[in-house]
Amino acid sequence: MTGDGTRCVGQAAGAPGDPVHPGPVLSSTFHLAPEELPEYFYGRAGNPTWSAYEAAIGELEGGECVAFASGMAALSTVMRLRARPGTAVVLPSDGYYISRLVASEELAPMGVEVREFATAGSPPSFAGATLVLLETPSNPGLEVCDIRALAEAAHAAGALVAVDNTTATPLGQKPLPLGADFVVSSDTKAISGHGDVLLGHVTCADPVLAA
Ligand SMILES: Cc1ncc(COP(=O)(O)O)c(C=O)c1O
Repeated sequence: MTGDGTRCVGQAAGAPGDPVHPGPVLSSTFHLAPEELPEYFYGRAGNPTWSAYEAAIGELEGGECVAFASGMAALSTVMRLRARPGTAVVLPSDGYYISRLVASEELAPMGVEVREFATAGSPPSFAGATLVLLETPSNPGLEVCDIRALAEAAHAAGALVAVDNTTATPLGQKPLPLGADFVVSSDTKAISGHGDVLLGHVTCADPVLAA
Protein backbone atom coordinates (compact mmCIF):
# COMPACT_ATOMS: atom_id res chain seq x y z
CA MET A 1 0.00 0.00 0.00
CA THR A 2 1.58 3.25 -1.13
CA GLY A 3 1.07 6.50 0.76
CA ASP A 4 -0.67 9.63 -0.46
CA GLY A 5 2.60 11.34 -1.32
CA THR A 6 3.53 8.56 -3.73
CA ARG A 7 0.06 8.09 -5.19
CA CYS A 8 -0.50 11.73 -6.05
CA VAL A 9 2.60 12.14 -8.21
CA GLY A 10 1.20 10.10 -11.06
CA GLN A 11 -0.12 6.68 -11.94
CA ALA A 12 1.48 5.78 -15.26
CA ALA A 13 4.73 3.85 -15.22
CA GLY A 14 6.87 5.66 -17.76
CA ALA A 15 9.60 4.25 -19.98
CA PRO A 16 13.16 5.29 -19.18
CA GLY A 17 13.72 8.76 -20.60
CA ASP A 18 10.03 9.76 -20.43
CA PRO A 19 9.33 12.93 -18.43
CA VAL A 20 8.09 12.11 -14.93
CA HIS A 21 5.52 14.92 -15.21
CA PRO A 22 3.91 15.36 -18.62
CA GLY A 23 3.95 19.04 -19.53
CA PRO A 24 0.67 20.93 -19.93
CA VAL A 25 -1.05 20.33 -23.26
CA LEU A 26 -2.15 23.71 -24.62
CA SER A 27 -3.74 22.61 -27.91
CA SER A 28 -7.48 23.18 -28.18
CA THR A 29 -7.88 20.65 -31.01
CA PHE A 30 -6.50 17.18 -31.67
CA HIS A 31 -5.87 15.03 -34.74
CA LEU A 32 -8.88 12.94 -35.75
CA ALA A 33 -9.07 9.44 -37.21
CA PRO A 34 -11.55 8.64 -40.02
CA GLU A 35 -12.89 5.49 -38.29
CA GLU A 36 -13.46 6.56 -34.70
CA LEU A 37 -13.49 9.55 -32.40
CA PRO A 38 -10.26 9.50 -30.35
CA GLU A 39 -10.30 10.13 -26.58
CA TYR A 40 -9.20 13.72 -27.18
CA PHE A 41 -10.74 15.64 -30.06
CA TYR A 42 -11.68 19.14 -28.78
CA GLY A 43 -10.21 20.76 -25.71
CA ARG A 44 -13.48 21.69 -24.02
CA ALA A 45 -14.42 18.02 -23.75
CA GLY A 46 -11.10 16.98 -22.24
CA ASN A 47 -7.35 17.02 -22.68
CA PRO A 48 -4.42 14.97 -21.35
CA THR A 49 -3.54 17.60 -18.73
CA TRP A 50 -7.02 17.54 -17.20
CA SER A 51 -7.02 13.73 -17.31
CA ALA A 52 -3.73 13.51 -15.40
CA TYR A 53 -5.02 15.93 -12.76
CA GLU A 54 -8.35 14.13 -12.40
CA ALA A 55 -6.62 10.76 -12.12
CA ALA A 56 -4.30 12.00 -9.35
CA ILE A 57 -7.07 13.63 -7.29
CA GLY A 58 -9.47 10.73 -7.88
CA GLU A 59 -6.77 8.33 -6.67
CA LEU A 60 -6.26 10.33 -3.47
CA GLU A 61 -9.96 10.79 -2.75
CA GLY A 62 -11.12 7.31 -3.77
CA GLY A 63 -13.55 8.27 -6.53
CA GLU A 64 -14.16 9.63 -9.98
CA CYS A 65 -12.87 13.22 -10.29
CA VAL A 66 -13.93 15.94 -12.72
CA ALA A 67 -11.96 19.20 -12.89
CA PHE A 68 -13.81 22.53 -13.07
CA ALA A 69 -12.73 26.04 -14.02
CA SER A 70 -13.08 27.25 -10.39
CA GLY A 71 -14.23 26.12 -6.98
CA MET A 72 -17.52 27.97 -7.43
CA ALA A 73 -18.11 26.26 -10.79
CA ALA A 74 -17.71 22.92 -8.99
CA LEU A 75 -19.90 23.93 -6.04
CA SER A 76 -22.72 25.49 -8.01
CA THR A 77 -22.87 22.43 -10.29
CA VAL A 78 -23.35 20.11 -7.31
CA MET A 79 -25.76 22.51 -5.58
CA ARG A 80 -27.99 22.64 -8.67
CA LEU A 81 -27.86 18.91 -9.40
CA ARG A 82 -31.03 17.92 -7.56
CA ALA A 83 -32.45 21.36 -6.74
CA ARG A 84 -36.12 21.44 -7.79
CA PRO A 85 -39.07 23.55 -6.64
CA GLY A 86 -40.37 22.10 -3.37
CA THR A 87 -37.06 20.48 -2.38
CA ALA A 88 -34.67 21.76 0.30
CA VAL A 89 -30.93 22.29 0.49
CA VAL A 90 -29.09 22.28 3.82
CA LEU A 91 -25.82 24.17 4.11
CA PRO A 92 -23.55 25.83 6.68
CA SER A 93 -24.40 29.30 7.93
CA ASP A 94 -20.69 29.88 8.61
CA GLY A 95 -19.23 28.44 5.41
CA TYR A 96 -17.85 30.15 2.31
CA TYR A 97 -20.22 33.08 1.71
CA ILE A 98 -20.54 32.67 -2.06
CA SER A 99 -22.01 29.17 -1.55
CA ARG A 100 -24.65 30.80 0.63
CA LEU A 101 -25.28 33.40 -2.07
CA VAL A 102 -25.83 30.65 -4.67
CA ALA A 103 -28.42 29.16 -2.32
CA SER A 104 -30.20 32.39 -1.41
CA GLU A 105 -30.03 34.20 -4.75
CA GLU A 106 -30.26 31.34 -7.26
CA LEU A 107 -31.87 28.31 -5.60
CA ALA A 108 -34.40 30.05 -3.31
CA PRO A 109 -36.05 31.99 -6.20
CA MET A 110 -36.55 28.62 -7.94
CA GLY A 111 -38.66 27.48 -4.98
CA VAL A 112 -35.90 25.60 -3.12
CA GLU A 113 -36.05 25.92 0.65
CA VAL A 114 -32.67 26.94 2.08
CA ARG A 115 -31.87 25.62 5.59
CA GLU A 116 -28.67 26.88 7.18
CA PHE A 117 -26.94 25.56 10.27
CA ALA A 118 -23.71 26.36 12.11
CA THR A 119 -21.02 23.81 11.29
CA ALA A 120 -20.33 23.00 14.95
CA GLY A 121 -24.00 23.32 15.98
CA SER A 122 -27.06 21.07 15.87
CA PRO A 123 -28.21 20.20 12.34
CA PRO A 124 -31.78 21.01 11.28
CA SER A 125 -34.21 18.40 10.02
CA PHE A 126 -33.08 16.87 6.73
CA ALA A 127 -36.66 15.98 5.72
CA GLY A 128 -37.34 16.98 2.14
CA ALA A 129 -33.68 17.84 1.49
CA THR A 130 -32.06 16.57 -1.69
CA LEU A 131 -28.61 17.89 -0.79
CA VAL A 132 -26.73 18.47 2.45
CA LEU A 133 -23.60 20.55 1.93
CA LEU A 134 -20.97 20.42 4.69
CA GLU A 135 -17.82 22.50 4.89
CA THR A 136 -15.36 21.14 7.41
CA PRO A 137 -13.13 22.82 8.43
CA SER A 138 -15.25 25.82 7.53
CA ASN A 139 -13.94 29.00 5.93
CA PRO A 140 -13.20 31.31 7.70
CA GLY A 141 -13.96 30.04 11.22
CA LEU A 142 -12.31 26.58 10.91
CA GLU A 143 -15.26 24.92 12.69
CA VAL A 144 -15.60 21.17 12.17
CA CYS A 145 -18.44 18.65 12.08
CA ASP A 146 -18.81 14.86 12.08
CA ILE A 147 -19.07 13.90 8.40
CA ARG A 148 -19.92 10.24 9.11
CA ALA A 149 -22.78 10.98 11.52
CA LEU A 150 -24.28 13.73 9.36
CA ALA A 151 -23.98 11.62 6.19
CA GLU A 152 -25.86 8.79 7.88
CA ALA A 153 -28.67 11.12 8.95
CA ALA A 154 -28.83 12.80 5.54
CA HIS A 155 -28.95 9.48 3.67
CA ALA A 156 -31.70 8.25 5.99
CA ALA A 157 -33.74 11.28 4.83
CA GLY A 158 -32.93 10.59 1.15
CA ALA A 159 -30.44 13.47 0.70
CA LEU A 160 -27.07 13.34 -1.01
CA VAL A 161 -24.09 14.73 0.89
CA ALA A 162 -21.39 17.00 -0.50
CA VAL A 163 -18.35 18.10 1.50
CA ASP A 164 -16.43 21.25 0.60
CA ASN A 165 -12.94 19.94 1.36
CA THR A 166 -11.06 23.05 0.25
CA THR A 167 -9.31 23.68 3.54
CA ALA A 168 -8.39 20.12 4.49
CA THR A 169 -7.44 18.90 0.96
CA PRO A 170 -7.43 15.12 0.35
CA LEU A 171 -4.09 14.89 2.16
CA GLY A 172 -5.84 15.96 5.39
CA GLN A 173 -9.32 14.43 5.07
CA LYS A 174 -11.09 11.97 2.76
CA PRO A 175 -14.86 12.56 2.91
CA LEU A 176 -15.92 9.73 0.55
CA PRO A 177 -14.89 6.84 2.84
CA LEU A 178 -16.69 8.71 5.65
CA GLY A 179 -19.95 8.48 3.72
CA ALA A 180 -20.08 11.61 1.55
CA ASP A 181 -21.36 11.31 -2.01
CA PHE A 182 -19.32 14.21 -3.38
CA VAL A 183 -16.16 16.03 -2.51
CA VAL A 184 -16.09 19.58 -3.86
CA SER A 185 -13.06 21.82 -3.64
CA SER A 186 -11.61 25.16 -4.58
CA ASP A 187 -8.25 24.04 -5.89
CA THR A 188 -7.34 27.70 -6.19
CA LYS A 189 -6.37 27.40 -2.52
CA ALA A 190 -4.20 24.91 -0.61
CA ILE A 191 -4.20 22.08 -3.13
CA SER A 192 -2.42 24.13 -5.80
CA GLY A 193 -0.59 26.10 -3.15
CA HIS A 194 1.15 28.76 -5.18
CA GLY A 195 -1.63 31.28 -5.86
CA ASP A 196 -1.16 30.92 -9.61
CA VAL A 197 -4.23 28.95 -10.78
CA LEU A 198 -8.00 29.20 -10.61
CA LEU A 199 -9.34 25.64 -10.41
CA GLY A 200 -11.92 23.41 -8.79
CA HIS A 201 -13.01 19.79 -8.79
CA VAL A 202 -15.80 17.41 -7.86
CA THR A 203 -15.06 13.82 -6.91
CA CYS A 204 -17.85 11.30 -6.67
CA ALA A 205 -17.82 7.82 -5.17
CA ASP A 206 -20.36 6.46 -7.60
CA PRO A 207 -19.31 6.43 -11.25
CA VAL A 208 -22.96 6.75 -12.31
CA LEU A 209 -23.39 9.99 -10.35
CA ALA A 210 -20.02 11.22 -11.62
CA ALA A 211 -21.17 10.78 -15.19
C1 LIG B 1 -14.21 26.91 1.22
C2 LIG B 1 -14.27 27.52 -0.15
N1 LIG B 1 -15.09 26.98 -1.05
C3 LIG B 1 -15.20 27.50 -2.31
C4 LIG B 1 -14.46 28.60 -2.68
C5 LIG B 1 -14.62 29.15 -4.08
O1 LIG B 1 -13.53 28.78 -4.87
P1 LIG B 1 -13.03 29.61 -6.15
O2 LIG B 1 -12.53 30.93 -5.66
O3 LIG B 1 -11.93 28.74 -6.72
O4 LIG B 1 -14.20 29.73 -7.09
C6 LIG B 1 -13.58 29.18 -1.78
C7 LIG B 1 -12.80 30.37 -2.15
O5 LIG B 1 -12.22 31.04 -1.30
C8 LIG B 1 -13.49 28.63 -0.48
O6 LIG B 1 -12.66 29.14 0.46
